[in-house]
Amino acid sequence: MKILMVCLGNICRSPLAEGIMQRKIEENGLPWKVDSAGTSSWHIGEPPDRRSIEVAKKHGIDIAAQRGRQIRQEDLSEFDFIYAMDTSNFRDILKLANSPEQEEKVKLILNETTPNEDNSVPDPYWDDDGFENVYQLLHRACQKIIENNFK
Ligand code: 4NP
Repeated sequence: MKILMVCLGNICRSPLAEGIMQRKIEENGLPWKVDSAGTSSWHIGEPPDRRSIEVAKKHGIDIAAQRGRQIRQEDLSEFDFIYAMDTSNFRDILKLANSPEQEEKVKLILNETTPNEDNSVPDPYWDDDGFENVYQLLHRACQKIIENNFK
């Protein structure tokens, strides 16, 4: 199983999702891989936002070595599940899909915890207080991904 976490910048939400999922993969001894990417090219090569690094660290997860990259067409064949953080990311990723099979791989991550509600992980970039909330939302969603696909 190969999972790709996707947000706009690949510096706030999806690096946290990658770090949390990586931790859960290790805890559960799963042969899964996880990566993250942004729909934009704005932060290619950059480390995660310091506020994401801090909130991850507070929960015992080190995401500081991650570097931003932009999603590319090949990711839709390479990965089994592509989790969008919000509905705008979801629409942008679908534009890259070139088959119904690829379209089916693209999911909204919060539909794992609140199915069919199409909720978005709020963009915390402009809100210092939003990072802990984002962490909690992603932590629950990643746990559900494991439960729904493995246990
Ligand atoms: P992310 O957050 O999509 O969760 O990484 C953002 C990061 C950067 C910007 C917007 C959102 N930006 O406008 O540069």
